[in-house]
Amino acid sequence: MKQSTSVLFVCLGNICRSPTAEAVFKKKAAEAGLDIDIDSAGTHGYHIGKPADKRSQAAGIERGYSFKGLKCRRVDESDFERFDYILAMDSSNLANLHGMAPGQHHNKIKLFLDFADVEDKEVPDPYYGGKRGFELVLDLIEEASDGLIVHIKQTQQQ
Ligand code: 4NP
Repeated sequence: MKQSTSVLFVCLGNICRSPTAEAVFKKKAAEAGLDIDIDSAGTHGYHIGKPADKRSQAAGIERGYSFKGLKCRRVDESDFERFDYILAMDSSNLANLHGMAPGQHHNKIKLFLDFADVEDKEVPDPYYGGKRGFELVLDLIEEASDGLIVHIKQTQQQ
């Protein structure tokens, strides 16, 4: 039987935003003492089997996050059954996930930044930009991770 809460972070390539979310959320969840099954995946398969983008790793490692063992994979059917929260980085990923999900699982799919107190709910794709884009991704992901931890703690107390 499934014990812990489970969270899947999803972006397009699974090499920049969602592995960053996985690395940040793993550290923050552990610090909060939460037992959460955490993973990430991409809606497309351009980079399957590859580690996170070097620029994402450099920016994240500088803030104390680990990308060890993370390998790019694509979202698959079983993810919709396995995870309690399936969190998209932008509205395009969100639409793709809704297009793939079996009917009973649509309520698990949300924008990750629904858990952050920001107006624009999209984590911008940093792939074709410079270092500032990767720092912004980290800023947004850190804020949303804190919000998600508060939400999961409240849910677990109910
Ligand atoms: P991600 O960024 O969705 O945050 O992993 C991208 C990575 C690769 C590509 C696009 C976005 N690509 O076109 O290869």
